[in-house]
Amino acid sequence: MCGIIGCVGHHDDTLDVVLDGLETLEYRGYDSAGVALVDDSIDVQKKQGRLEALRTEIAKRDVTPTGDVGIGHTRWSTHGPPTDANAHPHTDEAGQVAVVHNGIIENYQSLRDELEAEGVTFTSDTDTEVIPHLFAAYLETDLSTELAFHRTLERIDGSYAIAAVVAGDDRIFATRNDSPLVLGIGENQYYLASDVPAFLEYTRDVVYLDDGDVAIIDADGWDVTDGDGESVDKEVSTVTWSAEQTGKSGYEHYMLKEINEQPTALRQGLSGRLDELAGDITVEELDDVGFPETVHFVACGTSYHAALYGVELFREVGVPAQAFLASEYATGPAPIPEDGLIVGVTQSGETADTLSALREAQGRGAKTLALTNVVGSTAARECDHALYIRSGPEIGVAATKTFSSQLTALNLLAETIADNTRGSRDLVLALRDVPSDIQQVLDETTAEAIVDEYVDNESFFFIGRGLHFPVALEGALKFKEITYEHAEGFASGELKHGPLALVTSNTPVFAIVTGNDERARKTIGNVKEVEARDAPVIAVTDGQSDVERYADHVLEIPETHQRTAPMLANVQLQLVAYHMANQLGRSIDKPRNLAKSVTVE
Ligand code: AGP
Ligand code: GLU
Repeated sequence: MCGIIGCVGHHDDTLDVVLDGLETLEYRGYDSAGVALVDDSIDVQKKQGRLEALRTEIAKRDVTPTGDVGIGHTRWSTHGPPTDANAHPHTDEAGQVAVVHNGIIENYQSLRDELEAEGVTFTSDTDTEVIPHLFAAYLETDLSTELAFHRTLERIDGSYAIAAVVAGDDRIFATRNDSPLVLGIGENQYYLASDVPAFLEYTRDVVYLDDGDVAIIDADGWDVTDGDGESVDKEVSTVTWSAEQTGKSGYEHYMLKEINEQPTALRQGLSGRLDELAGDITVEELDDVGFPETVHFVACGTSYHAALYGVELFREVGVPAQAFLASEYATGPAPIPEDGLIVGVTQSGETADTLSALREAQGRGAKTLALTNVVGSTAARECDHALYIRSGPEIGVAATKTFSSQLTALNLLAETIADNTRGSRDLVLALRDVPSDIQQVLDETTAEAIVDEYVDNESFFFIGRGLHFPVALEGALKFKEITYEHAEGFASGELKHGPLALVTSNTPVFAIVTGNDERARKTIGNVKEVEARDAPVIAVTDGQSDVERYADHVLEIPETHQRTAPMLANVQLQLVAYHMANQLGRSIDKPRNLAKSVTVE
């Protein structure tokens, strides 16, 4: 995930428009940034680090880049570390074409092999770089620039938003598939960007592009066609957001925006890693990890809950696994297995407790793997291996989309390491469908109306069994973190061993029950126990069992694989926490006493 901006018709201040636009998009990615300005030639300037580093680099130049056409990019690396060379825009060898790209080109390796065999020299590790080389190669033939762009698009698979410019041409060529891209319509000034705030200063009139649309803008106007070059009718709408809402794409809070981004985040995390036909899972980064004797997870907070889910998965595929709170690991009694794999689950890759546990394990000769969202983070750099969850930046302190991405990535990790073929096609299909299932939950949830009934309560319980136990813990953590109300998560079977003493008509209980197997039936038994104590019950269920009979309210999720059901249930619980905190007027994106990245032990 990253930020793309393009503008035409600004003449003298093209560079400022592009750089200012990138500043509003920096929340989408910030490990490197770059710009390309077009006249008869293309002037590219790019730099590792935050946008400020790029501005400083440009300020050092004797001649400031100029041009009537400009594109820019803030990167969130997926392929290759954040370096100057990997920053966008990327160009062909002659520098006639420059491209910025958001997302992943799944078939980049075969395209790269093909281009290299033809003698093309690559200068970056990115998947993106195949695009300018292909585009330039088609321009070398007699094709028009539009057709050359279309041909290029026909060759690439994946999820992407792309903007491309050509030397001596005053147009920007753009398209999208599974990544956002929107046009801004001004007076002889036109824009394109990953998100509206990038050009909101100049116009509120926008055209939202759909997957497969190909847009061309120049100072005289804009045009959208489909992949065959046929004109597509697009509606111009007017954005009415307040300045305060702009960085949040119109959402009131980053947390709600990030909850709603989950279908996209998960699609990106799975992109190129599932083979539906063969029922296979392939993760390039894991090629040389090998089969471990045992797996230890180390993590904190939400990531620890993901680790607990991971433990079940590894046990299912036949690898003994345990999850440890990172802060307890290094000093705890459990021996660190020298022939094991120690997996640090950490979205930021900077959590001090997790880093310290990983370092301790490494010091004792164990192999380490970072399961993280941030390419180039300390965990990613220090561990022997890294698996990226590709969630895109998360601003809200409460982890939401990164938890879902972690659960998805843990499935990829367990299946790849175990090289498991038993029944994995069902899982591959379920994983493929998770983004649309989550979308269905987001579209149909009744969480907001349900929490209205419980705003006066002060204590809440969350219960689940098996893979739903970590989700019960996570549901409670999210709830307490942003509502400041007391909430606890329990394995449903544990209630009767103590916590049941707290259950009264004033303690709503959220119970996760999916399927209708023994675990579901036993959890329903526990639901009956709390119902008998007059506790209000809110069942999160796929409707397969009769739990609804004992529930005061139901939060429905679509029927799915038992591995993916917890992800759907969790989205309902994220929404419960969000709406309750909103009702109570809490500081949702920055809860009191908490920080996004905890860099002290
Ligand atoms: C969850 O909402 C919190 N932000 C917190 O528990 C977090 O998951 C924990 O601090 C670990 O962070 P990490 O994934 O960046 O290591
Ligand atoms: N896959 C591309 C890269 O790693 C684009 C990443 C992004 O969306 O910023 O450079």
